[in-house]
Amino acid sequence: MHEITQDTNGSMTLNKEEFDLRQLLQEIFSEYSLTFEQRKQKANLSTDSSPMHFFGDRHKIKQMIGELIQNAIKYIPDGGEITVSSTSDSQYQFIDIIDSGIGIPNEEQGKIFEKFYEVQNSDYHSSSSSDFMGCGMGLGLTFAKAIAEAHEGGIRVVSQVNEGSQFRVYLPVILKDNQK
Ligand SMILES: Nc1ncnc2c1ncn2[C@@H]1O[C@H](COP(=O)(O)OP(=O)(O)OP(=O)(O)O)[C@@H](O)[C@H]1O
Ligand SMILES: [Mg+2]
Repeated sequence: MHEITQDTNGSMTLNKEEFDLRQLLQEIFSEYSLTFEQRKQKANLSTDSSPMHFFGDRHKIKQMIGELIQNAIKYIPDGGEITVSSTSDSQYQFIDIIDSGIGIPNEEQGKIFEKFYEVQNSDYHSSSSSDFMGCGMGLGLTFAKAIAEAHEGGIRVVSQVNEGSQFRVYLPVILKDNQK
């Protein structure tokens, strides 16, 4: 039986259900496999060996992780490496998206989550959203952060220019029985 609970958090309505986060990550990875190949990027997925039960909005969590992977693809040159790994402790589920790309200067790291904010001058961007420095609207991270926050979690970034970036999503593990 598949049960969905509707829950409005802030201005976002979440359709929460119990799902396997590990299976979702595998699904997202297979959807991006052609792009990884085209960009000659090495992509690694590291998860627990058993299912990772999570209660949340599967569709929105998929969009959130997709935005972070899309950025990793755009901001690493051909031949770079992307690692997605998922771990947990008793309170949180963590999803790390780590890239070997251009990195983000310290003073920009707080601003990239703002609507329409882009570090690079978009006039120089390529027109394809999966090319190196591909174009965008500067909205992906704003949405990704809003989705994490609607699940009572958040996103943190650690980055070094010319070395790469790590985006960490943390989502509290909430048992379905505790929901309203
Ligand atoms: N992994 C990353 N490496 C380097 N810079 C990044 C990375 N992710 C985001 N950024 C910087 O943060 C900015 C904002 O990211 P965001 O995803 O919100 O917008 P976008 O990718 O430019 O456009 P959109 O996501 O709307 O297609 C980017 O324009 C880029 O300058
Ligand atoms: Mg983006």
